[in-house]
Amino acid sequence: MDSVPLVSATATAESGTVSRSGSSVSSLSSSSSLSDLLSTFTAGVGSRTSARGAHPRGTASVLTSTVNLTNTIVGGGMLALPFAVKSAGLVLAVALLVAVMITTAFSVGLLVEAGKSTRAPLFTDLTAATLGRKWVPVVQISVILQSYGTCIGYYIIIADMIQPLLAELWPGGSFFTSRAWVGLLALAVTGPLVDEAIHAVLDSAYYIGGPQVAQFETEFSEYITGEDGHCAGCSNGTDAILLALEALGVGEGDEVITQANTYCATVFSITRTGAKAVLVDVDAETMMMDASQIESKITANTKVIMPVHLYGHSADMDAVMDIAKRHNLLVVEDASQAHGCTWRGQKVGSFGDAAAFSMYPGKNLGGYGDAGAIIAKDTAIIEKIKILRNMGQKVKYHHECVGYNHRLDTLQAAVLSVRLRHLDAWNSRRKELAARYIAGLNAVEGLTLPTWDPATVDPVWHLFVLRVGSAEKRDSVLKALQGAGIGVGVHYPISVNKTGAYADEFKDSSYPITEAAAVGMISIPIHPDLTDDDQDYIIEQVKAALA
Ligand SMILES: Cc1ncc(COP(=O)(O)O)c(C=O)c1O
Repeated sequence: MDSVPLVSATATAESGTVSRSGSSVSSLSSSSSLSDLLSTFTAGVGSRTSARGAHPRGTASVLTSTVNLTNTIVGGGMLALPFAVKSAGLVLAVALLVAVMITTAFSVGLLVEAGKSTRAPLFTDLTAATLGRKWVPVVQISVILQSYGTCIGYYIIIADMIQPLLAELWPGGSFFTSRAWVGLLALAVTGPLVDEAIHAVLDSAYYIGGPQVAQFETEFSEYITGEDGHCAGCSNGTDAILLALEALGVGEGDEVITQANTYCATVFSITRTGAKAVLVDVDAETMMMDASQIESKITANTKVIMPVHLYGHSADMDAVMDIAKRHNLLVVEDASQAHGCTWRGQKVGSFGDAAAFSMYPGKNLGGYGDAGAIIAKDTAIIEKIKILRNMGQKVKYHHECVGYNHRLDTLQAAVLSVRLRHLDAWNSRRKELAARYIAGLNAVEGLTLPTWDPATVDPVWHLFVLRVGSAEKRDSVLKALQGAGIGVGVHYPISVNKTGAYADEFKDSSYPITEAAAVGMISIPIHPDLTDDDQDYIIEQVKAALA
């Protein structure tokens, strides 16, 4: 069997490859075909901006555009032809089809000529040049509506046709009636949506701070908190923690209490602010922050408690919020691994004064590159972060404070908006897979499975972490699974207090549960693209490795 990756392949499966192979879907989107054609013909006329000049679509050939147009007409004709022939008769139907082709070709010719004479490479530019700027939104809205209409149309066509077709072809059921295959077909429709979003950014050439950033911030804010205004996008999860702490006034002389069992970025970002990181161990069962250790670490300098919702689970937010309230401390959640996870039905990331999310590609909500976001209760903190992340400026060249270049990339924002719509479905699949792992592995001796309290936590299973005990056992199981082509990982092999970066800082402290976990843990694949068959194979191999 093929090797099974540890992290989700969704990012690549949803990329342009899908839409490019699904040529009938993309070629039938006439709006993009026409703008391709138009930009092709006008590319030689004189590209007005260097950003557009670098646009890959400007290099398409006349031949490509002609084939694309013909494909569009023939594709549209294929759907309509049977009806036309039946109701109008063969001769009239063919005559109508030819008339449609001539009208379309004439319209395209007109557009090309208009494009050449006005030197406008895009529909929007052409509208501005011929009708005036105030008509541009009308064109934009109609293109958006048409694109949405096309996507919805294809969803309906697929849904209507797939069931009877599959049932007829494979009456007893087969791979082609399986969930994995139907999922792939759905991706063939979703892929173009991501493509469409990316092309919208490319067409606008608004690569920094485009409207897609604000749109994603609104959507993610509503997803986590139920309200707009509480999100600022940024460059990655590490910077999200740094910006949140800095905006809350954390710096030199302050202490931030977090946990030893976490990714290094949590602690790096604390110490980057100039504050001191104070670590507590994790709970031996849940592997989340051991809240019973927090109070003994509080000093006059303590300013923040930072729980980390590791592996897609939640820290004990009742305990953390209670301690913070009694000691008048701020709470900043590191929710980088837990997009959509809830504690008592409330999304993690909405409890504290602020929360940081990583949108690294392998995360439950991942971009097509580095990305991150901060959620904050107080909208003034969000405004402060928006200034900090953008070179300390709100108005260009008016630098109110020493800032960073930690902005969210417009392309990533566009991709994340589309992917956010799938997050709940992907998390549901992760939950299904976790339940199947638990059913398949709970009787295996020498194996500790993830533990959580379902009365409080609804995990979203960023990782599925097994504990096998000793370092020797861990290494032998790792080797066996890798040998079987399974992508495994260790989160994390060296506890943060023992990394070289903090060799001096924590040399007198120990965190026995975290340190034992570091040598005895294995993460096995869990991601929405994992099929039942692949998972059964993994379960079999884990059992064999531990036998
Ligand atoms: C718990 C935690 N915090 C912070 C980060 C940092 O996020 P990024 O890689 O996007 O900088 C990660 C990323 O893996 C993480 O898992």
